[in-house]
Amino acid sequence: QPVYRKDYKPTPYLIDQVHLTFQLGEEHTTVLSDLHFKPNYQGDSPPEVVLNGRKDLKLQSVKVDGKDVPQEQYEVSEKLLMIRGLPKGPFNLQIETQIKPQDNTSLEGLYKSSGNFCTQCEAEGFRGITYFYDRPDVLAKYTTRIEAPKGPYPVLLSNGNLQASGELSDGRHFATWEDPFPKPCYLFALVAGDLAVSKDSFTTASGRRVDLHIYVQQQNIDRVAYAMQSLKAAMKWDEDVFGLEYDLDLFNIVAVDDFNMGAMENKSLNIFNSRLVLASPATATDDDFARIEGVVAHEYFHNWTGNRVTCRDWFQLTLKEGLTVFRDQEFSADMRSRGVKRVDDASALRRAQFPEDAGAFAHPIRPEEYTRMDNFYSLTVYEKGAEVVRLYQTLLGQAGFRKGMDLYFKRHDGTAVTCDDFRAAMADANDVDLSALGTWYQQAGTPAVKVSTSYNASARTYTVKASQSTPATPGQSHKDPVLIPLAVGLLGKSGQPLALHLQGSKANGSAGDSAVLRLEKASQEFVFTEVPEEPVPSLCRNFSAPIKLEVEGQTEDDLIFLVKHDTDPFARWDAAQRLGQALMIQLYAAAADTSKNGSSSLAERCSAAGGVKQSLVDAFRAVLQDKALDGAMAAALLTLPGPTELQAMIHHADPVTLHEVRKYVVKELAQQLRPDLEAAVKRNDLPASEEYSPDAAQAAKRVLKNKCLGFLAALGEPAVYSMLLQRFRDASNMTDEIAALAALTECPCKERETGLSEFYQKWKDENLVVLKWLALQAASNVSGNLAAVQELQQHPAFNIKNPNNCYSLFLPFVRSPVNFHAGDGSGYRFLADSILTVDKINSQVAARMASPFTQLKQFDSERQTIMKQQAQRVADTEGLSENVFEVVQKSLKD
Ligand code: ARG
Ligand code: ZN
Repeated sequence: QPVYRKDYKPTPYLIDQVHLTFQLGEEHTTVLSDLHFKPNYQGDSPPEVVLNGRKDLKLQSVKVDGKDVPQEQYEVSEKLLMIRGLPKGPFNLQIETQIKPQDNTSLEGLYKSSGNFCTQCEAEGFRGITYFYDRPDVLAKYTTRIEAPKGPYPVLLSNGNLQASGELSDGRHFATWEDPFPKPCYLFALVAGDLAVSKDSFTTASGRRVDLHIYVQQQNIDRVAYAMQSLKAAMKWDEDVFGLEYDLDLFNIVAVDDFNMGAMENKSLNIFNSRLVLASPATATDDDFARIEGVVAHEYFHNWTGNRVTCRDWFQLTLKEGLTVFRDQEFSADMRSRGVKRVDDASALRRAQFPEDAGAFAHPIRPEEYTRMDNFYSLTVYEKGAEVVRLYQTLLGQAGFRKGMDLYFKRHDGTAVTCDDFRAAMADANDVDLSALGTWYQQAGTPAVKVSTSYNASARTYTVKASQSTPATPGQSHKDPVLIPLAVGLLGKSGQPLALHLQGSKANGSAGDSAVLRLEKASQEFVFTEVPEEPVPSLCRNFSAPIKLEVEGQTEDDLIFLVKHDTDPFARWDAAQRLGQALMIQLYAAAADTSKNGSSSLAERCSAAGGVKQSLVDAFRAVLQDKALDGAMAAALLTLPGPTELQAMIHHADPVTLHEVRKYVVKELAQQLRPDLEAAVKRNDLPASEEYSPDAAQAAKRVLKNKCLGFLAALGEPAVYSMLLQRFRDASNMTDEIAALAALTECPCKERETGLSEFYQKWKDENLVVLKWLALQAASNVSGNLAAVQELQQHPAFNIKNPNNCYSLFLPFVRSPVNFHAGDGSGYRFLADSILTVDKINSQVAARMASPFTQLKQFDSERQTIMKQQAQRVADTEGLSENVFEVVQKSLKD
């Protein structure tokens, strides 16, 4: 039964003080909760208290102001505790419950990971610990006393400052923590275990010394330096850019191996999936380092955007997540290459969020209803949400955005608010009307923008005509226009930027290289004046809005020109993408048409259709030869659009044929560019004298080199295979080691098997590295690979109870067009079986695995039919979780 945004009502009481006592034990854990209630109702007859709970809570006693509540005055059900006959005015409620964290495989609430106790409460896990108003608008100050056997649990942590600690009888000890800041229960955390700690400190701008502690399992203590360094950089950046300082004397990070998501921003006690903390050059890739930097910062930034100002209800999740993702994106842009970061983020959005927005689970960044909130920790709420926050900055400028943030904190510090409050703060601080941005919060679906242009030589005017429409999404057929800031530049014949004079605009005459057009109607015209020659337009620069852009009359020559000359990294990359798209769409049509010459091979049909055009080869060659170009940018330019983007463009395409076409193009390019690829590999190899560093400059060289090796692997030559195996063996860091192995994993050759088995032997005791080994094999397009994936499920290295293991086996498998989309339906059946198995253990993980079903309409009708059968089989299974049901049911209805 869904919850609706429109039904929001405050609770009849507020809880402003929470005293928790945990008696941790191996058999069971007792939780004593002492809550101070304050009336929040009208009138003078006290209403009932209705608190959330979960069926694994064992209620031991209920007292009001120290006196037992008589049986007839309370009711317990699987999900609720209801208490009547409460006193007028404030009172204390004491609840004792018993739980079994050791049996909690959902990893929500209090559970055990590698023998240690830990918690995950967002969104609704606190109700698995004790009965409570488990919602974000009830803010209280917490004290937490933890009691546990000292031997196995020497470290006892919770939020805030350590107030007291000491010995108890029977080898037990205790610690009492006090958090001075009011918070919703989803930010509560507790950790108890045997952990090693790495210590550092940071002094804030106003001179407060903050102790920084990172806790990990003993064997990992030498892999936390990078996370620590990232944390300090994030603390400094938030002071410099937003004037935000940390507010306590202690900040803790704890890494755990069993965690549903990436990490969690619990007040002063962030808990992380260990893969986002632990890194050494030997075990982590450049991408891992970059991700660690970004996520450590993200969780730290939540201290202000999420914790000090939190959400009124879970529909507002994007208020904290969209904003915090935007902040971590900007942080990473400042730490690394801004242009490359923007390209990566835009590319990820297109690859993963656009399909979500076009599929059965499409929802606005602020959803109107949900059954399981966990299902809405989505790319839409996070990543599209971040793009919507970026719209404010694009419209207001950085200084205007900062003014809005300042007012937001001034108004709302210590409270739980809505997305509308954020927009109001931005608008009021800048004295502008931003109501037009409201539609972005209400409408699902990616807006499609069409642009056509015309040059009037005698009037020297250049007209940009833009129209927009958003396609219908499930349950939302009518769409209004949204406000789209469209950043535009004009390039002259020799690639030079033209000065921009936008008619009727205040910015007239001083707009610089780019102008931001304000598209807010279904269709609008913008006129540039004093344009000396017919320009080539560079559109949606810096990915100024999360839209799908179609440019009428844009020629291949225009695109090649932009790849050569555009100074905007996103627009330049986008031009290269468009070249690749157009080619593959054309070749797919030829490949799929077996009517003319049924006996020809796919490669023959593709070359008969013109094959890979010389112009594209030349454009790629120019990128490879451009020594001044950042390697990461070059690698991005050389990356062809992926299967999901192409699938979305070709109505009901056969995913396997589409994959073969892409493979054909890669191989053709490799053949024609071989000397350039080999030269780029040489040029970008790290000299033996230089030590590995995960910094952006060195990583950029590796990403380009490894991109080139990937192309060379496609040649299918034995000599290349042995070269790759040699590189794999000689690699001095995980980035190069895994890249060489990844290239081999796509090739059916003996070096593939040798590499995979050597890799496992070398790394079998390193959890996080084994995950990479699983993921590589699972994603492989080598035909018949399903059997190998099924075998991996039985492999001693695979642990189905661990979310990372599931994410590294099942999710990569789904990304293999050849094996997941096998025509006999075996891939779909395997996914359905796996979902049902995992659902009994952890429904959040199972629901994430079910998301491919929300995309079934993309595929050819045969595949739609067999995918539906499997989705139906899942939906019909008795005892299915609400999480999975919500996802598959939507997939079937669409
Ligand atoms: N707030 C966390 C973050 O983005 C994620 C928590 C996810 N929890 C969940 N139940 N899905 O940093
Ligand atoms: Zn977050």
